[in-house]
Parts: sequence; structure tokens; C-alpha cells
Amino acid sequence: MPSLFSFLFAFAVPAFLHAQSPEIVIADFESADYGAWKSEGEAFGSGPTRGTLPGQMRVDGFAGKGLVNSFLKGDRSTGTLTSPEFKIERRYLSFLIGGGGFIGETCMNLLVDGQPVRTATGPNTKPGGSEHLDPQFWDLSQFAGKTARLQIVDRATGGWGHINVDQIVLTDREPPRDIVNAAREITAEKRLLNFPVKTGAPKRKVEVLVDGKAVRSFEIELAPDQPDWWAPLDISVWPGAKLTVRVDKLRSDSRALESIKQSDDLVDGADLYRESLRPQFHFSSKRGWLNDPNGLVFYRGEYHLFYQHNPYGWNWGNMHWGHAVSKDLVHWEEVGEALYPDNFGTMFSGSAVVDWKNTSGFGKNGEPPMVLFYTADGNPTTQCMAYSTDGRTFTKYEANPLVKEITRGNRDPKVIWHEPTQKWVMVLYVETAGKKHTVHFFTSPNLREWTLASITEGGTDNDRYLFECPDFYEMPVEGTRGTKAWVLSGANSEYAIGSFDGTKFTPEVSKLRGHRGHGFYAAQTYSDEPKGRRIQIGWGQMPSPGMSFNQLQLFPCEQKLVKTAEGLRLTWEPVAEIASLRKRTKEVPAFKLEKSTSNKLADFEAETVEFRAEFTPAPDAIVALNVRGIPVEYDAAKQELRVGDHRTSAPLQNGRQRLTVLLDRTSIEVFASDGLIYVPMPATPKAEDRKFELSAKSGSAEVSKLTLSELSSAWSR
Ligand code: FRU
Repeated sequence: MPSLFSFLFAFAVPAFLHAQSPEIVIADFESADYGAWKSEGEAFGSGPTRGTLPGQMRVDGFAGKGLVNSFLKGDRSTGTLTSPEFKIERRYLSFLIGGGGFIGETCMNLLVDGQPVRTATGPNTKPGGSEHLDPQFWDLSQFAGKTARLQIVDRATGGWGHINVDQIVLTDREPPRDIVNAAREITAEKRLLNFPVKTGAPKRKVEVLVDGKAVRSFEIELAPDQPDWWAPLDISVWPGAKLTVRVDKLRSDSRALESIKQSDDLVDGADLYRESLRPQFHFSSKRGWLNDPNGLVFYRGEYHLFYQHNPYGWNWGNMHWGHAVSKDLVHWEEVGEALYPDNFGTMFSGSAVVDWKNTSGFGKNGEPPMVLFYTADGNPTTQCMAYSTDGRTFTKYEANPLVKEITRGNRDPKVIWHEPTQKWVMVLYVETAGKKHTVHFFTSPNLREWTLASITEGGTDNDRYLFECPDFYEMPVEGTRGTKAWVLSGANSEYAIGSFDGTKFTPEVSKLRGHRGHGFYAAQTYSDEPKGRRIQIGWGQMPSPGMSFNQLQLFPCEQKLVKTAEGLRLTWEPVAEIASLRKRTKEVPAFKLEKSTSNKLADFEAETVEFRAEFTPAPDAIVALNVRGIPVEYDAAKQELRVGDHRTSAPLQNGRQRLTVLLDRTSIEVFASDGLIYVPMPATPKAEDRKFELSAKSGSAEVSKLTLSELSSAWSR
């Protein structure tokens, strides 16, 4: 009589052994040719493709370096690729597939006895989509032992008329499946919940639920295994609560959900602010992407810097308002997210004011509130408000939105107080018919009710004059007694100067150029600056590849409005507070710089610096500064400034040139012509090159001032 043991043995063990059978790789497409596979027509060529083909969106998700990619000669080519016969010796056939989603036209078929018995396609049938290859598999148990062929087909000639295939494997291990709404319960015990991020992994929607209600929701490239970095979510507002973390779709072999962990500090923060590409005296977020500065306001002794923030990714997305504070515009402390996405949408750019007279009624105990204005990027796109009396916690206005959608995508409210009319003024970017960029002006007595007062027109379509992120402010004209003028600018920093009566802006000059570099965008100026200065911060589009953070805010600049021969113009200079970062300064007494002059900066080595020089060049002079391998040159004959490969005119001022250069790990900012010319640029000097050189490439120059300061890290306190 068979015992229970032998019964189990008889059935269970052979299956178990069977499950151990090694995989059979039918094709990995890593060789230069297709081997015994037969390629017919033009679409597949004579061998596998190595990644993306010219004119194709980025192909990823394949294994190794090669794959089948029938985009050869574009979508219009057709063909078939047929495998040699193989025996179905395992239960499953797994493979990676992407490209067109047309059954019978962009597909892979399995033929048994010459008959198609299985087929699979890519996911795309309409414009957009992705060239990502996803895993699929067929259960072939019913064909065990039979011989079969695979046929990869591209019969389609229009959009998505191609198919991508890779890594075809016979296996007994059940291939991973997608689990819909995978979930995990976590009791909130610490401050942060850390999510594993891998840039390039499929984007998943994550929701955090408390009592069955989604309290946070975002998209994240969840790392299935080893993450690039951990994205922290603040859960301190729900101490002791049972949190459910739900992921819309997760592969069954992903370890993402189980690896989510709690901590009080960043789990991977040992190197924080010392990372190789971490800006040392520019603000960047501890983790994730940032773009526009938002809500720049001085409130209760602190400069506030809010910013467009994706806390969960290296790229743009999930717009939150991140938040940092500083006493001196130089040393910042990141204090967490101020605004989270909500039912109105994600939190796009906007501004902040101090409501000194408590016109809004949000003030408490005689304390004027700080009030934030932002765009909720939902459908519709609306303007909303939030307020705070402690500068740390923010309450969204219960009667949001303040301004309904005018046209889709209207955005970036900047609010100011207009003393003469005792009203608040909001400028808002609105695209009107014919892709016209406009700034709509609204007024309000109390920040709650807004009335459209006037419209100023900017450029059309690709002419980005007054396109998004408007800023509007009045400035004294330097060297006059009390003359003032109004400045209206857009995200690319082109601006107009004119007058304003409380309802309508009348430009006197329009479309003046702002910065002269690259990667300066969406700047905003401070509200309520205590010294009455006009201080501007621009988003520096300077990437930090390979880091757990990306992009930076450029160094705060003091703006002035000066009279020039051409009329009124803005100038930019780094704020005086930069002085607090000077660690050591080399000061060179006045001298004549000639071709033969030895390098006065030869004995100075540093990483992050501030360089200042004033010189009167001979008419044929080229004064060349080498900043850790980055050339900054002034050509007196052309009155031209060159930063790396970039050129811009920079007129001498009374025969004299004054240059200021700020160098950080991923940026360089050059100020010339008494601040009229501001050239911010992405730049990543070689870590090992710490040298500086000043020379005359031709001609000579009387150098009246020359200093080079090593700047200490703003994070080292
Ligand atoms: C400018 C901008 C804004 C928008 C924000 C979204 O960079 O497009 O117009 O509010 O970024 O992050």
C-alpha cells in the first residue's frame, strides 16, 4: 500500500524537479546576425538592432544590447523574421515585446504544425505611446513536446508600423505577472516613508490611504530591486495610523512594495549635500526634481523659497510646492512640502505675499498671514490660494478656486499690493485664441474676490515674449530722485518697462532681453524684501546626472533699473550676502595685463569660487580667464563676452569692463557691463581641475581690480 509519503513523492517531487529544469534561450539577439532565423522583406534587415534606430523614440526595456526592431527604414517597411524549428520542452515561452499593437500586422506568432496558435503584439496603436518593451508569456503546456516556429511579423506601414522583440526563453518558472492594485499595510511609526526609485523603471501610480481614503497620490518609477535612491514621504501627520500603500500595477517579482521602509531621517542621506554634483552655494532640493521658484516672500524674519518639486522622481512630474527658508538668501534649510496635489490638480507655479492689513481675514492674533497663490493644474486649470501664520504649515482656502479657468492652462499667478489704489493686483498668464501669449491683470480688495481689469499682449506661439510665469513690480530708477517705472516680465526673462495705474499696464518699451545665457527660466522676485531691494531668483536648468536630485535655483540677484544711452534697462548683480561665503580671497594689486604677463592666479586652487575683475582693455585686447577649464573671454574689439562656446555682446562702460564670475559644481554665472549683461550657463568643471588663469590673448588691459575668492559650501554649517 502506498504510504502518504510515497503518494506525495509520486506526484509532487517530479513536478518539483521539473521546475528546476534550466531555461532554454531561444534567442537573445545579441549577435551581429540572426543566425538560423530567416529575415524576409526590408523591415528586419540582416541582424538585430542595437537599441534605438534613427528617427525613433527611445527604445528601452530590452535585455542586453541587441533586439529585433523592425523600424529599419521607418514604419513603412515590412517583412517577417522566422525562427528555426524548436521543441516545446518547457511550460512557458516568455519574451519582451514592444512597438505596434496591430493584431496580425505587428505581432509575433507561434506556429505549431504550421498553424498559428498564439500571437502577441506591442501596446501602441495611436500617436504618442512608448517604445518600451514589456514582458509577456504564453502557457504552452498543451503543446508539450511538439516542434514549433516563431514568426515575427511587420505588415503595417503607417504610424506604429513596427514591432520590437527580445529575449525569447522557454522556461518552467511562471513568468512574472502584473498585479493590479498591489497593496501593503504599514503602521505609521516614524517620520518618513521611503520609496525605492529607479529612473527609467515603469511609472506607477502610488496611493497612500488612511482609513480607506487616499491622502497622497503620485506617480513614481518604482525600483523593482536595487533603487537609485529613496524618495521620502512625510507621514508625521498621521502618527500611529494604519497606512495602506497601494500601487496600481506591479510585477509579481517586484520587491518595491515590500522594500518601502520607515525612518526618521533620509535613509540614504550619509552624503547629503556632499554628493559629487551637489551645488555648493545654490539651492537644490535634497531629493527629486525642482523647477520654478515660487512664492518668494520675506515673512517673520525669513526668506521663503518655495519651488516646483517632484519629490519622487529625477524628472519633472507630480508638482508639489517644496519649501526652504533662509535668513540670508545664501544658507537654506529645506523644511518639507508646503503644498501637495489635491482634487483640483497638481500644484503649479505661483507667488506669495504678506497680507499686512489682514484684508483676507486669515491673520491670527494680530499676526499678518502669509498668503500663497498657485495654479491647480487640473481640468479645469484654476487659480487657488493657501495661507499660513507660522510660515511652516499651510491651509488651503476653503472656497478655492479663486479664479476659474479662462482658457486651458492659464497659470502662474503673481500677486502684489498696489499702495495708491489700496488693492491687490494679480498678473496671470493666459493663452488666448491664435496661441497668443497674454498677461491678464486682476484686482482684489481682499485676496478672495478677483476682478479682471486689463490684458497685456505678448508674443504669439513660438515668440515666447510674456509666455508663462509673469512677474510685475515697480522699481526706482537709479540716479533719479524718486522716478519709478513698472517692469513686466515672462518666463524667458524678456521684459517691458512702462507705467501702471492700478488697472492697466502701459508699456513704454517692450520685449527687452533679460539674461544672455542658457538655462535661466521662470524667475521671480521677492515680495516684502525687508531692505526694499528687488531680489530675483531664477530656475537654473542645470542637470545633475546620476544624482538623487536634479536642477537648481540660480544665485539670488539684486536687480536695479538704470538709465543707459538706449533707455531704461535692468541690471543683475549677485546679492551682497555672498560675502558670507568667502573663505579666503586673493587680491591682486592693480597691474597691466599683457601677453607676457605671468598668471597672477597660478598659486590659487579652489573648487567653488567668486571671481571679480575690473579692467580697461586696449582696443584690440582679448582678456581671457580660465575658470577650472571653462574659458570666459572678453573681446574688446567686438565688445563681446564668451563663456565656453556661448557668445553675447557686452558693451564697455566708459571704456571699462567689470566681470563677476560665480562657479559652482554644475553652473557658471557671469555678470558683465555693470550688470547689464547676465550670463548664467550650465557648466560642470572637471572635479580634479582646480586651477585659474588670467591672461591677455592679444593686446593688453589695465587691470584696476582683481579678486578671486574661494566660496565655502552653504551646507557646511
Ligand atoms: C514654467 C512652468 C510653469 C508651470 C510650471 C509647472 O517652467 O511650465 O508655467 O506653472 O512650470 O511645473
